[in-house]
Amino acid sequence: MSDVRLTINGREVTAPKGSTVLEAATRAGIFIPTLCHDPELTSFGACRMCVVEIKGMRNLPASCVTEVADGMVVETDSPAVVEARKTILELLLANHPADCLTCGRNGDCRLQDYAYMYGVKSEPFGGEKHNYPVEDDNPFIIRDMNKCILCGKCVRACAEIQGKNIIDFAYRGFDAKVATAMDVPLSDSECVFCGNCVAVCPVGALQEKALRSAARTWEVKKVKTTCPYCGTGCSLELNVKDDRVVGVTSCQGDVNGRALCVKGRFGFGFIHHPDRLQKPLVKKNGTFVEASWEEAINLVAEKLQDIKEHHGSDALAVLSSARCTNEENYLMQKFTRVVLGTNNIDHCARL
Ligand code: FES
Repeated sequence: MSDVRLTINGREVTAPKGSTVLEAATRAGIFIPTLCHDPELTSFGACRMCVVEIKGMRNLPASCVTEVADGMVVETDSPAVVEARKTILELLLANHPADCLTCGRNGDCRLQDYAYMYGVKSEPFGGEKHNYPVEDDNPFIIRDMNKCILCGKCVRACAEIQGKNIIDFAYRGFDAKVATAMDVPLSDSECVFCGNCVAVCPVGALQEKALRSAARTWEVKKVKTTCPYCGTGCSLELNVKDDRVVGVTSCQGDVNGRALCVKGRFGFGFIHHPDRLQKPLVKKNGTFVEASWEEAINLVAEKLQDIKEHHGSDALAVLSSARCTNEENYLMQKFTRVVLGTNNIDHCARL
C-alpha cells in the first residue's frame, strides 16, 4: 500500500494510504487524546475528544475516523482544538459524579487525566444528573452507569473481542445508556464475565470488584506473567500489593491482545487460598502428614519402580496437565517413555 505525505503540527510525515489522521500522528509520536477510540476495536467517532484542525475543512473532524490524504495540513493542538476538547470535557463532567476521591479508578481514569491536562475544573453546564443504582450483585464486576461516558468501548469489546453482544446502547437522549437486553443486571444476562469490557473502560463505570476494593491504583505493582489455567498462554498482569496478588488486569499480550477469560481475569483466589497445598503430603497410618520434597519424591519413585518390576511398564500410565508449560509437558512424556518405558501418556486437555 502506498504512503501519503501530510503535515502535522508543521512536521512533514508519511502514513500508509487508508490510515487515519490519529494513526498517522501516533506513528509520528504526536499525542492526540482519545476516549472512544481503541486500536483493537472498530472506530466509532463518538466522543470527539480526538478532534483536530485540518486546513480547508470547515469543522473540526475526529482524527480517529478521518483518513489521511496527500497534502493534508493538520493541527492537533490549535486554540480551536483545545477549546473544543475543553468543552467536551465540561459536558462530560456535567453529568458525572464528582467522587474521584473515593473512586476505585482514581489515578487510572482518562477523564480525570484529560481534565487535569486541559485544566478543566468547573462544571459550567449545570443540569440534571443520572442517579442509577450501582450494580454490584455479582462477584466480579462493579457497574456504575452514572460514570459511563457512552464511549461504547464495552459494547464493541463484548461484540468484537468476546463475540457475545450482551450489551448495547439502549434508550434515547439523556436516558441513553449501555444496557443488557431488557436492561437486566449482568448476572441475569448471558454475560460470561470475561471482563473484557472492564479492560477497555476508560473511566470508573466498569471496575474489577475485588481489585478496586483491595488497593488504590498507585499501591499495586503490576507483574506481567502468563496465565496458568490452560495451554493458550495468555499474558496478564498480576496486581500485587504487600506481596499478595489482589487482582488481575489485561496487558498487551502476543497471544491474546488484552482479552482474558473469566478464569484468567477473576480466578486468582487460589493463589493465597488457605486450602492450597504448598507442601507435599504423605499418607502415614491412614492420614496425610507433611513431608519434605525429597521424602515425597523418593516415595513416588519407589512405588513406580515397584509397579514396573512386578507388573511391567504398561501397568503404568501418566496424565499430564494443561496447566503445565510446553516444556514441562515435553519432559513428562520423555520421562514416561524413557524412564518408565511406556507410551501410556496423555494430557487432560484431550479429555
Ligand atoms: Fe475519536 Fe472518540 S477518540 S471520536
